[in-house]
Amino acid sequence: MSMRLSRSIVGEAEAEAVRRVICEDGYLGIGKEVQQFEADVAAYLGVPASWVISVNTGTAALHLAVEAVLGHGSGAEVLVPSLTFVASFQAIGGAGAVPVACDARLDTATIDLADAERRLTPRTKAIMPVHYASNPVDLDGVYAFAEKHGLRVIEDAAHAFGCLYKGRKIGSFGDVACFSFDGIKNITCGEGGCIVTSDQAVAEAARDGRLLSVEKDTEKRFSGQRSWEFDVERQGWRYHMSNVMAAIGRVQLTRLDGEFAPKRRELAELYRERLSGVPGVALLTAEPEAWIVPHIFPVRILNGRQHDVIGALDAKGIPTGQHYKPNHLLSLYGGGKPSLPATEQLHGELLTLPLHPGLSREDVAGVPSGAGLCGRKALFRGYAEASGGAADELFHIARALFKVRFLVRL
Ligand SMILES: Cc1ncc(COP(=O)(O)O)c(C=O)c1O
Repeated sequence: MSMRLSRSIVGEAEAEAVRRVICEDGYLGIGKEVQQFEADVAAYLGVPASWVISVNTGTAALHLAVEAVLGHGSGAEVLVPSLTFVASFQAIGGAGAVPVACDARLDTATIDLADAERRLTPRTKAIMPVHYASNPVDLDGVYAFAEKHGLRVIEDAAHAFGCLYKGRKIGSFGDVACFSFDGIKNITCGEGGCIVTSDQAVAEAARDGRLLSVEKDTEKRFSGQRSWEFDVERQGWRYHMSNVMAAIGRVQLTRLDGEFAPKRRELAELYRERLSGVPGVALLTAEPEAWIVPHIFPVRILNGRQHDVIGALDAKGIPTGQHYKPNHLLSLYGGGKPSLPATEQLHGELLTLPLHPGLSREDVAGVPSGAGLCGRKALFRGYAEASGGAADELFHIARALFKVRFLVRL
């Protein structure tokens, strides 16, 4: 099988859950399974179920969150790092607010608050930090900034399900957090996402908003008493999650801590070990005390060698990604004006290496025990042998990176 940059890890248990919804319940829309998924997510995060509103994509979660916080068509400005998936920007724009692109920190590739401060205007009402590559942003700094300037915080936590900041799960504290459960995220529902907030006015607006803003429609459907007599006071959307998606998500949730998270962390650790100290490569740094379940593994390739390395890896059948095309370079968002120097530098350096739990089959804790003595190449060879055929992929990456280092004289 050719190597993949990322992929869904789903199997018999997810298939059985979907079969159950189709064959036993027969109700595919928003119902019991969605209600239970929300309760499961809440229990995982350690928050009340009323804080969690599931939707059909992470983009929908962000869009609804912005509307629930600022209102539909507010025209308010929202500070957001340019280095994010275009979904963050489209969600803000879709809610009738204005995304204001901010520069990034070179060390973490997350929002640069000093730059954000320069972009404040009387119209600025919110900030949307992005937990880039699952690394929680400096949330103490973000919340202090927000308080100082009277802003709401909508965390784009699409990458960060299962991650901790100072011992607390992302989404379990703060203002509003939005997760993505698309096919390649830390857990998937096929597609999907959710909003988590302690602000019950925001939660209610989002809960109604996902069902065309039909008042209390979620509650009615969950209790099997859908009403045909209703009122609508606000713009709404068809953004709810389905029972089929929720059934997949519930199984994925049970696999996160014991299976997906340790594998992702182990693989990222191997990359770090393999690449730290390699001339011409810079690793992103994590916030102190962050506990990361890495969704992607971007590294910085210095000295203008990004495309050489992408080409060399491609020639060896190793796919790479570029997360992300900075939004301020897109026509809709300024076409390069104003310039954001750190973001543009990162755009010319970042390269994402393959990372997904399918790169190995077994928990590799303690494998191979004498690795430290044998050196890095032996570690990878031992790792590959010990964890079965699928880990050959990782060995090839390691070997290719090793060769690339000489090929392009990093
Ligand atoms: C940073 C970021 N924000 C938002 C999203 C949107 O999530 P979704 O694809 O579920 O709509 C993604 C998804 O890739 C993302 O990476």
